Amino acid sequence: MTTSKRSYHITTFGCQMNKADSERMAGVLEDMGFEFAADPNQADLILYNTCTIRDNAEQKVYSYLGRQAKRKHEKPDLTLIVAGCVAQQEGEALLRRVPELDLVMGPQHANRLKDLLQQVFDGNQVVATEAVHIMEDITKPRRDSSVSAWVNVIYGCNERCTYCVVPNVRGVEQSRTPEAIRAEIEELGRQGYKEITLLGQNIDAYGRDLPGTTPEGRHLHTFTDLLYFVHDVPGIERIRFATSHPRYFTERLIRACAELPKICKHFHIPFQSGDNEVLKRMARGYTHEKYRRIIETIRTYMPDAAISADAIVGFPGETEAQFENTLKLVEDIGFDILNTAAYSPRPGTPAALWEEQISEEVKSDRLQRLNHLVAIKAAERSQRYLGRIEQVLVEEQNPKDGSQVMGRTDGNRLTFFQGDINELKGQIVNVKITEVRAFSLTGEPVPVAQSVARLKIG
Ligand code: SAH
Ligand code: SF4
Ligand code: F3S
Repeated sequence: MTTSKRSYHITTFGCQMNKADSERMAGVLEDMGFEFAADPNQADLILYNTCTIRDNAEQKVYSYLGRQAKRKHEKPDLTLIVAGCVAQQEGEALLRRVPELDLVMGPQHANRLKDLLQQVFDGNQVVATEAVHIMEDITKPRRDSSVSAWVNVIYGCNERCTYCVVPNVRGVEQSRTPEAIRAEIEELGRQGYKEITLLGQNIDAYGRDLPGTTPEGRHLHTFTDLLYFVHDVPGIERIRFATSHPRYFTERLIRACAELPKICKHFHIPFQSGDNEVLKRMARGYTHEKYRRIIETIRTYMPDAAISADAIVGFPGETEAQFENTLKLVEDIGFDILNTAAYSPRPGTPAALWEEQISEEVKSDRLQRLNHLVAIKAAERSQRYLGRIEQVLVEEQNPKDGSQVMGRTDGNRLTFFQGDINELKGQIVNVKITEVRAFSLTGEPVPVAQSVARLKIG
């Protein structure tokens, strides 16, 4: 009789950075002999990779955790781990709150999971939250998709936006070397991945911490240089990147995106507020005029580019007129997608201590008004796809309709069409768009001969 393997389950909250970290931690666990369990209630090891960007994200973790802590009383060999940004923020305090925990580990320690677990299995309760130099990962991530993969480019954040916990929990900027990044992408190309998304909190700040300057005094390794360095990796057909900070978004970067065919024409550049006074108090380092100029420049080089962003309403002291400046920016620019949030005071951030906090009623009223406008503008932006042939990289079956597959256009619009996932997964298919909605499209695959002819004529 063989003894059955121990099993693990990971639940991930938060941003793409956390998703990428979870895939690496899953890789470490599988390397250690753990088997994936789809049902957390059957798993011998549970890892919560957590987010603390807003209070509701943090509270969600505690409710999940409470349930598993209870289960541990019936199953004492259950290993309970909190990783990610709540772990970093709370540290030891988490152990006091949930004594059933075995391991609390900040995001910078993701690649050290094996060492840390060893200490747990030796009988210790472990907290790993000290600032460290992030090691290159030597194990293979267990990636959720076989088509599209995350590639970390820069960790951490050197900004100090007055509302934001990220610098506290993710530490200072640490860029990976161009060689390490390219090597990872080459491996992905060999494994059959078609698309990569380069990740960083402020990806366009890449390279500032790497040594060397050019004769003109520029940093030797900028994000633009990195794109030129990795864009031709064999097998990889599409390159995306997120998130960009308006402070570092240069015309040189825009030109590179226009010039390099594999770079998708989609830009995620959060603006947070359309009002200069609010932007100043957020310490964002740009004005709405500068933001508008960046988008104009992108559209000069790439008229069809998709633009998405993040915005916050109800920042402390935000007046109705200042909020209306955000509405105006959204009206003028016409985002393809905008992630919106009501301001949430976060521990350890300056704005949380300011007196002029906005009431929950006003925040939720502003959020609703903004979301209403966002949906209208997104629907308008979708209209331009109607009747067009778009190239869709097929990722999955449509979970709501087994006869359809789904994937994304170059501009990142989710698109559905009839087809067999076993045949089409990982392929780029020409799809004629027949139906448009605010945030997704439906179409029909175009026979190859016809699409080639159209492309030639077009
Ligand atoms: N580095 C990126 C964003 C990272 S956080 C940038 O600077 O643009 C993701 C988004 O969460 C932010 O863009 C912001 O819109 C939102 N956010 C961050 N802190 C918040 C807070 N305290 N309350 C509400 N939203 C917040
Ligand atoms: Fe947060 Fe600002 Fe850094 Fe973005 S740039 S992660 S909003 S501190
Ligand atoms: Fe959340 Fe941490 Fe990302 S706080 S948004 S998971 S960096």
